[in-house]
Amino acid sequence: MARDPLKIVAECISEFGNEQKSVIQILTRVNEELSYIPAEVVDAVAEATGVSPGEVYSVVSFYSFFSSTPRGRNIVRVCSTISCAMAGQGDVLSALVEEFGITPFETTEDSFLTIEITPCIGLCDQAPAMLVNGTPHGNLTPEKACEIVRRLKQTNN
Ligand code: FES
Repeated sequence: MARDPLKIVAECISEFGNEQKSVIQILTRVNEELSYIPAEVVDAVAEATGVSPGEVYSVVSFYSFFSSTPRGRNIVRVCSTISCAMAGQGDVLSALVEEFGITPFETTEDSFLTIEITPCIGLCDQAPAMLVNGTPHGNLTPEKACEIVRRLKQTNN
């Protein structure tokens, strides 16, 4: 069961402090624990740090690794920048979409998986590439990408 978002915020404020510079640390922790940042967290962080809710929300919407909507327990981010696009990213993404039955930025009904598209993740020399729960995978083929996610399903979900 997911933890209380406001309890996580309170713990973060104890750990990181309630200054403006703590905003990203707090949001990062909440995003890691819940896979997204609920609206109530935006308000709580704003109140605790003195930053306006609009500014906190703009931080959430600016960074692609933050989400304001619930996501799956596992997040696959397929790079769509030029090196990966030229190396077959489209085929990799299509294979994942077909196998797991969701389009980019959707989540499976059982909350197992969210697929996202991301700008360059620094693995251009191993294009096409993706991050699976933050772990990099490169030199992908459609079959290799699907197998990585299938294994995830067998091992921890
Ligand atoms: S372009 Fe895909 S990792 Fe850089």
